[in-house]
Amino acid sequence: TVVILDFGAQYTQLIARRVREFNVFSVVLPCTAQLEEIRALNPVGVVLSGGPSSVYDADAPKADPAVLGLGLPVLGICYGMQFMAHHLGGRVEPADKREYGDAVATVAVENRLFAGLPRELQVWMSHGDSVIDLPEGFVVAATSHSALASIADETRRMYAVQWHPEVAHSKQGTELLRNFVFEICGAKADWTSEAFIESTVARIREQVGPDGHAICGLSGGVDSAVAAVLVARAIGDRLTCIFVNNGVLRKNEFEQVQRNMREKLGLNVVAVDASKRFLSQLGGITDPETKRKIIGREFIAVFDDEAAKILRGQEKAGEVAHDVGGKEVAWLVQGTLYPDVIESSSVKGPSQTIKSHHNVGGLPENMKLKLIEPLRDLFKDEVRRFGADLGMPQEVLERQPFPGPGLAVRIVGEVTPERVSILQNADEIVVNEIKKAGLYREIWQSFAVLLPVKSVGVMGDQRTYAYTCAIRAVHSGDGMTADWVPLPYEVLRTISSRIVNEVRGINRVVYDVTSKPPGTIEWE
Ligand code: XMP
Repeated sequence: TVVILDFGAQYTQLIARRVREFNVFSVVLPCTAQLEEIRALNPVGVVLSGGPSSVYDADAPKADPAVLGLGLPVLGICYGMQFMAHHLGGRVEPADKREYGDAVATVAVENRLFAGLPRELQVWMSHGDSVIDLPEGFVVAATSHSALASIADETRRMYAVQWHPEVAHSKQGTELLRNFVFEICGAKADWTSEAFIESTVARIREQVGPDGHAICGLSGGVDSAVAAVLVARAIGDRLTCIFVNNGVLRKNEFEQVQRNMREKLGLNVVAVDASKRFLSQLGGITDPETKRKIIGREFIAVFDDEAAKILRGQEKAGEVAHDVGGKEVAWLVQGTLYPDVIESSSVKGPSQTIKSHHNVGGLPENMKLKLIEPLRDLFKDEVRRFGADLGMPQEVLERQPFPGPGLAVRIVGEVTPERVSILQNADEIVVNEIKKAGLYREIWQSFAVLLPVKSVGVMGDQRTYAYTCAIRAVHSGDGMTADWVPLPYEVLRTISSRIVNEVRGINRVVYDVTSKPPGTIEWE
């Protein structure tokens, strides 16, 4: 394991992903992590991340300086370099000028970090402070035109760079990190999907025990499906999956997901068609947050009911009992991913709620279910990779993200059964045309939005007066920020003409050219 201590940089997760791409397990801990917690992970090395502060700020994030004395190899990045220098007896000062963007670092003294790299490195910098005086034992390993770019103490295996090797703009960054992980830390490349699957399945089997039962909410998306398949590997039929039709799924999705999950993945699925209940609750509601809350609330109610039935049924059959001798034997599977885990323990403060998100499996509190989160160590791309190694079909693994509140947040204003059906038809055309153009995989999300705006058109000799459909397509890495995609005009032309010709109720198509921020991906 390589431990990464997070001082609050935007790029900390990227460091972990780079290391994992070498098949070496890495963990991000807040910089405030206790020494014992770090030691318990048996790390082969420690990376100190960047961060937005100055080591001299009163509220600067601090790690226990004793991590520098564990005898482990350490790599300090940006703020991590300043933290290292500051705590080992060097000096850090605000530079005259902030260094930001592309720069060249020239290697001054060769060391193992730079093994095999050119003497001039293309690097990406973002810092205000600089190291001025070296701690004892250190030498200047590289310089840029304005600052000490890298320092090192080869004897103690301590290295630091002022730039960010984890971002793609730093050309030899991956090679540099590889040198640290293998040449300096001596890590083994044993974080493979077989190893992950094997150890996860064994752990779940032990957690749930020989009699325990688990339930899992399926969304049709990648995360819940991979989580369910892993748990099913461990406990077989003692996992029951619940899939709820909330009335705002995509066209034919209720049937398709059931087929995929049952036939292709062999999961034990209870499908509940609650669409009438959801749609009647949504009647007359136009406020986006109220719509989201209603769907969240109804989902939990339906899920709760079904879960209770399943667990009661098993109690009756004598297979499972609640709270036997203080031990709970019922489990809830959730597809929580590593970025959420890191985010919730981050040194950065909580961010403002823009939209109240909710996911399937919103925990029914009163059921006292214990959580199994088989993906809580994984990034999204790892989920896809491991899913493929579990034999899951590409169709499931490559599906673009779809929000929990479904088409309801893509119908601006009131959600009615008629509008849902119009949008389902338009959405199907968008997805099919994007797939036909070979763009589905490279685009984060591409979809149709129904606007309650009616305008005049002409079809044949007839006047029409119908809704407007907006097309949205964005590139994104994690949904936090996004760029609108310049879809080829030909693709837009086909989508537009098919929608207007084939979907009754829409007579105008517009294209959304807003990135996030300032827009959001979904319209509500
Ligand atoms: P926004 O619209 O906030 O969306 O830019 C960011 C990403 O999150 C998805 N999204 C949701 N996912 N439950 C979910 O599971 C939700 O309530 C929800 N709302 C938005 C959205 O599709 C995009 O990928």
